[in-house]
Amino acid sequence: MKTKHLIDLESLSTEELMEIIELANMIMDKPCDYADSCRGKILATLFYEPSTRTQMSFKTAMLRLGGSLIGFDNPQNSSVSKGESLKDTITVVGGYADIIAIRHQLEGTARAASLYSAAPIINAGDGGHLHPTQTLTDVVTLYNEKGTLDNMCIGLCGDLKNGRTVHSLIKTMSHFKGNRFVLISTPELSVPQYIKDIMNSSGCRHVEVPSLAEALPMLDVLYMTRIQRERFKSPEEYEKQKGVFVLDSEKMKLARKDMKILHPLPRVDEIAEEVDYDDRAKYFIQTVYGMYARMALILKMLENADRKPMPRRIDTHAVRCCNPNCITSVESYLPKIFRPLGGDMLQCKYCEGRTLI
Ligand code: NCD
Repeated sequence: MKTKHLIDLESLSTEELMEIIELANMIMDKPCDYADSCRGKILATLFYEPSTRTQMSFKTAMLRLGGSLIGFDNPQNSSVSKGESLKDTITVVGGYADIIAIRHQLEGTARAASLYSAAPIINAGDGGHLHPTQTLTDVVTLYNEKGTLDNMCIGLCGDLKNGRTVHSLIKTMSHFKGNRFVLISTPELSVPQYIKDIMNSSGCRHVEVPSLAEALPMLDVLYMTRIQRERFKSPEEYEKQKGVFVLDSEKMKLARKDMKILHPLPRVDEIAEEVDYDDRAKYFIQTVYGMYARMALILKMLENADRKPMPRRIDTHAVRCCNPNCITSVESYLPKIFRPLGGDMLQCKYCEGRTLI
């Protein structure tokens, strides 16, 4: 892998992504061949936000490769509770571990961590922004369960605004030929404009529909997501959105026989329990694919990781990112870095939020 850190799958070429998928499948076929591949290596899992699958699958992946673990799953048990900055925590952990997986409630945190880490950083979810290793999980699942990553009609349903798994998945699937998206959400929870722009610029057809029943007959894949309660400004706003889309056995009668249902999990109430017994439900096997996907990723990232201990100073912009959920709004020493979008518009390199000059 050419890139040192995995912040966004966009930094991998399609060939590199396929190599990870193929390696995941090879590990799945013969796990014993890889049982010592990371002997002597240490993975740090820094989880500032709750997680079951991502954290445990990273840990299991490293243990199954023969490596060891350090880290925290509750920042209150670390010096973060004493007010330590992200930069200081990462500088120190980057000196202890060979590779770091970080999850944080603020957008752009993994990118910020990568500026200060001697060890490679993996983005294990940054606020409502991205979740590239869930997308690896999803593509390994699709490759095995559908036999292809091309020419699919992919329905995404639920909280498309705050669902980081949705954003990462659309970005990646837009690179494969012939994919189309059916976006099923309320108007309040539709995908952010920058994700729509990505579909437009890669020529991917997409439609927004308000009803699951209307979408179901067209789909090769249905990607269900929960409404992200923790990202709402008020409990009242969440109450208005919850329970709008529920997949049950009755609705599944409208779906094709070979449609596959994926879900990053956790599920709240958007898939009725009865659907678990439908052969088309792949969301539990998806978690197993996720472990192999993370094993493959760790191996690839450790293959030729360089360790550069000292961060270089980066010039900072006078403008501040206007996204209140951007890591730069809290960690004020971070250099403000943007990419010009034309006119007076800048895009924050941490969170991809747009700011006017
Ligand atoms: C997702 C996440 O954390 O973004 N879960 C996961 O990592 N498997 C989805 C969610 O929390 O809804």
